[in-house]
Amino acid sequence: MICLGIETSCDETALALTRQGRLLAAVLASQIDLHAIFGGVVPELASREHQRFIGPLFDELLRRAQICPQDIDLIAVTRGPGLLGSLLIGTAFAKGLALSLGKPIIGVNHLHAHLLAAGLDPNRDQRLEFPALGLVVSGGHTEIYRMDSPWQFSRLGRTLDDAAGETFDKVGHALGLPYPAGRALNELAQKALSPIASLPRPYIDNDNLDFSFSGLKTAAINLAHEFGISATVKEQNKLASFSLAFNEAIACTLREKTKRALNRHPDISTLYLAGGVAANSIIRAELTDLMRNRKGSMFAPDLSLCGDNAAMIAYAGWLLHKHGMRHNLDFEAIPRGRPIPDDFISCSSADNLR
Ligand code: KG4
Ligand code: ZN
Repeated sequence: MICLGIETSCDETALALTRQGRLLAAVLASQIDLHAIFGGVVPELASREHQRFIGPLFDELLRRAQICPQDIDLIAVTRGPGLLGSLLIGTAFAKGLALSLGKPIIGVNHLHAHLLAAGLDPNRDQRLEFPALGLVVSGGHTEIYRMDSPWQFSRLGRTLDDAAGETFDKVGHALGLPYPAGRALNELAQKALSPIASLPRPYIDNDNLDFSFSGLKTAAINLAHEFGISATVKEQNKLASFSLAFNEAIACTLREKTKRALNRHPDISTLYLAGGVAANSIIRAELTDLMRNRKGSMFAPDLSLCGDNAAMIAYAGWLLHKHGMRHNLDFEAIPRGRPIPDDFISCSSADNLR
C-alpha cells in the first residue's frame, strides 16, 4: 500500500510517500529563513508559503517516486495541533485529492506521529513496542504520554509555559543567535570542557509530570548577562561553557520527569523520544543512560526524522489504517490548545468518502 503523507502544521511544507510503512520518497520546503527575519514563526506568512509550495511539491514528489496520482492508496494529513491557517492548507489539499482520486483519507495527530516515527527506522524490524512512554520535545510542545498502541495515547504531563525547543530558541535569541537556535546551542555545548555554572533544574520539586521552562529561560538569560556572554563574544569558550550549562539543565529536567513517569508505570520499559529537540545529543545521551540503568530501551528517530516531516505522517496514517481506521471528508483541522477528538471511523463502515 502506498500512503501519501502531508505535513503543514507549522513552518515546513512536507510531503512523503511510504510503501508498506517504508519511506519511498520525500520532499520538503522549509520556511526557516523567512521566519528568521522576524525571530519566530509568523502564522499568516506560514499559510501563504504552504499555499505557494504544496502543489509544486506534490508534482515533484510523484516525479521522484515515478508514480502517478492513481497509484496512491491512502492519504494521511496532519490535522493538528498546529497553526490553524497552515493546517487548513494541508487538510484542504488532502481532501481535494481524496475526493478526486476516490481514495481513503485519515487525519493524523502531529504529536502522535512524532512518537511513532521510531518505527520508520529502516534498521529496526518496524515493530513498535507497547506499552511505552513517549516524550515529545519540540518548538511548540513538551509532553509525556503513556502509549498503549499506535492510537491509544494518554497524556501524563505537559509544559505549563514554554516548550523545550522554544526555550532553546528564546535563550539563543537573547544571545544574538539566529532562529531557531537549538542546534547551534547544542553544537556549542559539544565543544565545552565544563559548564560555566549550574543552572536550576526547573519545576522538579513537586510530585507531578508537568514541565515549566520559563524560569530556566530567565535564569539562563541573567547568567549570560552576568558573564557578558553573547553570540559575538570574543571568548568563544565562555559561550560554549554557557551552552553546556543550559543544555544540561534541560536534559536533567527531562530525565527527572521521565524517571518519575517510569516509576509510576512499572510495566513500561521502552521510551520513545521525538520532536525537533530529540536531535539534541546531550538529551539523547541522558535519556539513553536513564533507560540503560533501568534495563530498558530508548528509541529516537534518525536525526533527519526528528523535526517536522511528512514521512512520519504517512507512516502513522498507514499504521492506523492497517488497524481499520480512517476519516470521512468532514474531519476538522484542530489548532494548538484544543484537544484532538478520537473520531476515526472504521474502514468497513465507511463505504464512501462522504
Ligand atoms: O519538531 P520541530 O521541527 O517543530 C515543531 O513542531 O516545533 O522542532 C523545532 C525545534 C526548534 O525549537 C529547534 O530549535 C529545536 O527543535 N531543535 C533543537 C535541536 N535541533 C532542533 N533543540 C536542541 N538541540 C538540537 N540539536
Ligand atoms: Zn513537530
